[in-house]
Amino acid sequence: MRMAPPTSPRSSTRSPRTAPFAAFAPVALTPRARVFVLTGAGISAESGIRTFRDANGLWEQHRFEDVASPEGWNADAALVWRFYAERRAQAVACQPNPAHRELADLERTLGARLFLCTQNVDDLHEKAGHGRVVHMHGELMKSRCESCSRAPFDDVEPYAAVPRCECGARIRPHIVWFGEEPFAMDRIQQALDACDVFVTIGSSGAVYPAAGFVRAVRARVSGDGKPATTLYVGPEEPDNAAMFDECRLGLAGDAVPGLFTT
Ligand code: APR
Repeated sequence: MRMAPPTSPRSSTRSPRTAPFAAFAPVALTPRARVFVLTGAGISAESGIRTFRDANGLWEQHRFEDVASPEGWNADAALVWRFYAERRAQAVACQPNPAHRELADLERTLGARLFLCTQNVDDLHEKAGHGRVVHMHGELMKSRCESCSRAPFDDVEPYAAVPRCECGARIRPHIVWFGEEPFAMDRIQQALDACDVFVTIGSSGAVYPAAGFVRAVRARVSGDGKPATTLYVGPEEPDNAAMFDECRLGLAGDAVPGLFTT
C-alpha cells in the first residue's frame, strides 16, 4: 500500500452530491444486485478503535515509517511489536457497533452478492457475525514467520520482546505495511469488476490501492449495462470525494443502519 495515487485522482472528476445522510433515500437493491463495501478505520471509531489520520489518530503519535514499514521493522522490530502489542490489547475488548452489525445482517440477506473488503486489521466485522471478510491490510490478531512457509496463525499475545519462530526467524505481525502489496488483490479486482453498487465507509481516501477502487468502478458499466452507483459514508468528504456519486455525511453507527433496502 502507498500514500500517493498511481495517477492524478482528479482527472475525470465530477461533483458528488454531498449532504447529511438523512437527506438521502435508502439504496434500493435489486434482487440480483452485487454490492462491494470497502470499510476503513472510521467504521470502528465508535467501537473505541483509533483512526490514523483524524485528530488524536495513531499517526499523530507514531511515524508510520517507524512502525508500519519494512524499513521500520528492520531498524527496530521491538518498537514495531510494542506498537502492535498495544493495539492488540486495546482491540481485544472492543465490540462491534451498529454499522458492523448492519453489514453482517446485509450479508445474511445477500450472501455472496455482498463483497466486504476492509482496510481494518481489527476483527469487529467478524465479531458482528460477518462470515466473509477480506482483510486487504492483514489482521491484528494474527502473526506469521517472516521467513519460513508456516501459515499465518491466530495470535493475541501482546509480546514484550520480538518472538521467534521454530525455524529461528522473527515472527512479525500479519499486517500489510507501507511499501507492501495488499492481500487478495485478484479477488478484489474481480469483485470491483462485478459490482453494481460500491460503498466506502469511514476511510480518508489517502491510501492506495484502496482509495483508487472507486475510480476503477466508475471506469466501467455494471452487470446490467448501467453505471455502478458509488457512495461514500462518513462524517466528512474523503480526499477522493470527487470520484463518488454521493457523499452521505454522518457517523457510521448512525448512517449505515438503514442505508440499504432489499
Ligand atoms: N464513522 C465514519 N467515519 C468516520 C468516523 C465515524 N464514526 N470517525 C471518523 N471517520 C472517518 C474520518 O472522517 C476519516 O475520513 O474515518 C476516516 C479515517 O481515515 P484514516 O484514519 O485515514 O483511516 P483509513 O482511511 O482507514 O486508513 C487507510 O492507512 O495507515 C493506513 O493501513 C492503514 O488501513 C489504514 C489505511
